[in-house]
Amino acid sequence: MIRARRTAGDDRTDDLLGLMLHTRHPETGLPLDEVNIRNQVITFLVAGHETTSGALSFALYYLARSPEVLARARAEVDALWGPPGEVPPSPAFEQIPKLRYVRRVLDEALRLWPTAPAYGRQAREDTVLDGKYAMRKGDWALVLLPALHRDPSVWGPDPEAFDPDRFAPAEVRARPAHTYKPWGTGARACIGRQFALHEAILVLGLLLHRYDLSGDPSYELKVTELLTMKPEGFTLEVRRRTS
Ligand code: HEM
Repeated sequence: MIRARRTAGDDRTDDLLGLMLHTRHPETGLPLDEVNIRNQVITFLVAGHETTSGALSFALYYLARSPEVLARARAEVDALWGPPGEVPPSPAFEQIPKLRYVRRVLDEALRLWPTAPAYGRQAREDTVLDGKYAMRKGDWALVLLPALHRDPSVWGPDPEAFDPDRFAPAEVRARPAHTYKPWGTGARACIGRQFALHEAILVLGLLLHRYDLSGDPSYELKVTELLTMKPEGFTLEVRRRTS
């Protein structure tokens, strides 16, 4: 694709590839080299596509089963964009963070099914974690997020229950740090987090605004894992909302 655009003298900058091909560094004046661009594209495909689409699938699965949550999320998007009409809204960047309840729905879906379900860290030297767990230099620790995110001492007696209000500000403040890590941790945490949140809230908000959603009531959640996790065989019926 990079070569095809170069050969065709295609200088459009209305998509990501075009921006990377034609933007120059503000100080050095240099463009990105082609290997760098290729790596960025692969990052988007591997790290940034299935992760977000899986998070949306789980969020839609829970929305389809939770009429009260769906109604609240719907009320929020309608308050922002008005009732559905012939002309769909054209959301401004600044509007997306206003969809706070939609954000909570996503946060809660990522609690139960963090689509990148684990991260590892390797000990640089012999150490003892928390005074309890001996690690030798080179040992690995794997943090399994679906387990961390279901710890009843943090999430209460029914951690399996889908409840976006767990992410209401007061609830978040009351929880200990480091108990919710769908984006990983520390300096190597997800670099695409803000992008993913913005994209997912935008898409989920628009779906809620444009369509009535109903899931198959007989569907039982089955999670499959390739590189990331996603619901297997889940389908959703969508009907255009009319004013
Ligand atoms: C819902 C969507 C996403 C989830 C749940 C997610 C989750 C994660 C997790 C758990 C890590 C490992 C962090 C660690 O080791 O501490 C990670 C790393 C990473 N993510 Fe994401 N991610 C998402 C979307 C994206 C997007 C949209 C991009 C880029 C377009 C992206 C790019 C990356 C990259 C490059 C790393 C490696 C960072 C490093 O090692 O320094 N991710 N992500």
